[in-house]
Amino acid sequence: MIICCIQTLLLLLGGQLPLSARVLAAPATTNNFSYHRFISGNGNKQSMHRIGVRLHVDSAQSTLFAVRGGNITLPCRFWYEPELSSPREVRIKWSWLPSAGGRETDVLVAIFPHSQSFGQYRGRVQLRRDFPGDASLLVTDLHLNDTGHYRCEVVDGLEDKSTSVDLELQGVVFPYQHPRGRYNMSFHGAQQVCEEQDSSLATFTQLFQSFKEGLNWCNAGWLADGTVQYPITRPRVPCGGHGLAPGVRSYGRRDRHLHHYDVFCFSSSLQGRVYVLQSSQKMNLTEAELACEEDGAQIAKVGQLYAAWKFTGLDHCDAGWLADGSVRYAITRPRKNCGPPEPGVRTFGFPPPHHKHGAFCYKPQNQYI
Ligand SMILES: *[C@@H]1O[C@H](CO)[C@@H](O)[C@H](O)[C@H]1NC(C)=O
Ligand SMILES: *[C@@H]1O[C@H](CO)[C@@H](O)[C@H](O)[C@H]1NC(C)=O
Ligand SMILES: *[C@@H]1O[C@H](CO)[C@@H](O)[C@H](O)[C@H]1NC(C)=O
Ligand SMILES: *[C@@H]1O[C@H](CO)[C@@H](O)[C@H](O)[C@H]1NC(C)=O
Ligand SMILES: *[C@@H]1O[C@H](CO)[C@@H](O)[C@H](O)[C@H]1NC(C)=O
Repeated sequence: MIICCIQTLLLLLGGQLPLSARVLAAPATTNNFSYHRFISGNGNKQSMHRIGVRLHVDSAQSTLFAVRGGNITLPCRFWYEPELSSPREVRIKWSWLPSAGGRETDVLVAIFPHSQSFGQYRGRVQLRRDFPGDASLLVTDLHLNDTGHYRCEVVDGLEDKSTSVDLELQGVVFPYQHPRGRYNMSFHGAQQVCEEQDSSLATFTQLFQSFKEGLNWCNAGWLADGTVQYPITRPRVPCGGHGLAPGVRSYGRRDRHLHHYDVFCFSSSLQGRVYVLQSSQKMNLTEAELACEEDGAQIAKVGQLYAAWKFTGLDHCDAGWLADGSVRYAITRPRKNCGPPEPGVRTFGFPPPHHKHGAFCYKPQNQYI
C-alpha cells in the first residue's frame, strides 16, 4: 500500500502530460514509415506495470559546453529494473527549450531504427545508439542559437520518463550601440544588428558569465529573453550608485516595439580567420571594403573581431575599419599607448567614412590566404 502511494507521488512529481495531449510538428518529408506510431506511442502490447518492471532514464552530465560549428553528444541512457531478457520497443524523443524562452520544440523523434528530425535541427541530429539503452543525441554544426535546455524522453507503453541536459556555448558577449547613437534599437532592431555582425542576442547566462569575467558596462541592452540589463563590476554613481554591490542590473522585460536600448550580442569561435590587412596606406571605409575583397576576403564584422580576440588572441594596437563602419582594435596584451590596462576590444565609434584607418578582414576557413 505504502509503496503504491510513493510511486503515485513520484509519477505526479514527474509531471508528464499524457501522450495524447502533445502536439508534434508535421514532418516535411515522409519516409515510408507510419508516422502515427511516433505520436501514438509504440507497439508494446504488455504493460510493464503488470510485469513489475520499471523504466529509468538518466544523463551523465547536466551541463555541456561547446563552440559554434562544433559537434556535441548530449548524453542520455535508459534501462529497466529488474533487467529484461529481451529488448522492448521504445519511443525516444528529444526536445529543446531555447535559452531565450518560448515553447519547447521537437528536435528528434525515434522508434528504432527510424527517426525524424525537425526545424532548425533537420539533418543535424541523430541518435548515437552505441549500446543497448543509449539514447544520446549527436548534434553537428552547432549554431549560436542552439543553446538551451534539452529533454530526452523515453516512452515504453504507459511508462514515460525523461531527463535533461543544458547546452551552453563558449564565447564572448559584447555590448553594441547603433551607429545612430545610444538607446536607438527596438528588440527586433537589436536582434538584427547582432545577426548582421555575425552574432546572436546574448542570453542572460551568457551575460552573467561575462560579468563574472569582468564585463563592466554602464548602458542597458536587450537580451534574448526580451529583458534589458547591464553588468556592473565597479559600481559608481551614474551606474546605479556607490552603495550597491556589483551585479547584473535589470530593467526587467520591456516592450519589444516601444522601448529602445543598446544590445548585448554573443559570438563564439569562428570557422575562418580575422587578420589585419597589410597595406602601405591608410584607407577610407570604401577603400577598406575593396581592399579586403581584393584579398579574397570580406571586411570583418564586429562579432568576428571579438571572436578572434577571445579565441585566437588577436592583438593589434592600431585601429581598423569593420563592416558596420566602426573603427576598433583588439588588445590581449595590454601595454602603454594601447588603451586601458585590461585586455579588450577598444572602439572609436563610427567616424566619418572618409577618415583614413587600417582594416580587419575575414576569410572563411576553406580559403587560403
Ligand atoms: C513501405 O514499406 C513497406 C514495408 O515496411 C513495403 O512493403 C512497401 O513496399 C514500402 N513502400 C514504398 C513506397 O517504399
Ligand atoms: C562533426 O561531425 C561531422 C559528421 O560526423 C563531421 O563531418 C565533422 O567533421 C565534425 N566536425 C567537427 C568540428 O568535429
Ligand atoms: C537560429 O539560427 C539559424 C542560423 O544560424 C537560423 O536559420 C534559425 O532560424 C535560428 N533559429 C531561431 C529559433 O532563432
Ligand atoms: C535614433 O536616432 C535617430 C537619429 O539620431 C533619431 O532621429 C531617432 O529619434 C532615434 N530613435 C530612437 C528611438 O531613439
Ligand atoms: C574613398 O576614397 C575613394 C578614392 O580612393 C573615393 O572614390 C571614395 O568616394 C572615398 N570614400 C569615402 C567614403 O570617402
